[in-house]
Amino acid sequence: MTAMTLHARGLIHRWRNRLPVTDATPEISLGEGNTPLVELRGPVEARELGIRVFAKYDGTNPTGSFKDRGMTMAVSKALEAGATAIACASTGNTSASAAAYASRAGVECIIILPAGYVAAGKIAQTILMGAKIIQIDGNFDDALRLVRLLCDESPVALVNSVNPYRIEGQKTIAFEVCDELGGAPEYHAMPVGNAGNITAHWKGYTELFADHTISSRPKMIGFQAAGSAPIVLGYPVEKPETIATAIRIGNPASWQQALAARDQSFGVIQAVTDDEILEAYKFLAKEGLFCEPASAASFAGAWRMIKEGTIEPGSRIVCTLTGHGLKDPTTAGKLASLPDAIPATLEAISRAAGV
Ligand code: F0G
Repeated sequence: MTAMTLHARGLIHRWRNRLPVTDATPEISLGEGNTPLVELRGPVEARELGIRVFAKYDGTNPTGSFKDRGMTMAVSKALEAGATAIACASTGNTSASAAAYASRAGVECIIILPAGYVAAGKIAQTILMGAKIIQIDGNFDDALRLVRLLCDESPVALVNSVNPYRIEGQKTIAFEVCDELGGAPEYHAMPVGNAGNITAHWKGYTELFADHTISSRPKMIGFQAAGSAPIVLGYPVEKPETIATAIRIGNPASWQQALAARDQSFGVIQAVTDDEILEAYKFLAKEGLFCEPASAASFAGAWRMIKEGTIEPGSRIVCTLTGHGLKDPTTAGKLASLPDAIPATLEAISRAAGV
């Protein structure tokens, strides 16, 4: 089937002059990008120091994660090159996004998942959007190694973040932040898994800096889950573990690029514990922002740095909330309990409501 461009105004449309697209590139879009930048009310430790904390709520993308930024580019370019099938390994969000954009483009989608470690919402999305799912007895690192081999030996286009077009699309998050703040923040925090997104954030800021659109670049502050923190430890983790399954990765593909982003920006990559992640997850929910556990790692790390006093007073910190809370209803359900039903009378509900 020849590619056609159906109406949807997404990030290729908005940032066309900053992306490697031409008139020959079909625009496979679901209206991704342009996500809310929301200033938080707290935490109190930040307020006291005049530090402003913002959430870049990328869970509001069409499939509920930042992956759509990269996928609109990767699938559009794959189609331009004549691909009829795409494939990826995934902890769940890349697969949901790949399945959606493949459906949109009318191409086949093959997904390799680590069995038992993908959140329920992500699996449901990926199945219903028509992808072919292959589950393996292995982790994400195994899945990525295998899908790379599969794509090397077949005409199937690989759409993991080792595909440079993924990074191109994802860099637009920096464009949006600078556009809205009228310049770069002092810090940008994000979770780090396979390390494509920290690479993309830094590329976006660096491009704006190079053409003098911004006069400074933020420090990249990246956070891995403590049980899956190879970059922090300095060696691959064979059996990564964390409640934040999205970033349960022991040998990130963009490891070197993450180190470069960290060092060039004078930033840090640190580990946050599952307890810190869950505390941040609950805090963000009370700010009205429901994200998935991995996403809360960005704020968890930033919050700890604020408490430690390593963030200068007056700074602005943007935390990327990479995925929507509804992606992982199981974790949410474990933290939230529903009260028993009561009689359907005004008296009973008044008593229950305490008013
Ligand atoms: N946050 C979420 C919600 C993710 O799904 C991922 C990665 C990350 C953060 C980390 O981003 O890999 O660029 O460092 N998820 C991938 C996936 C691995 O398959 O969905 P990264």
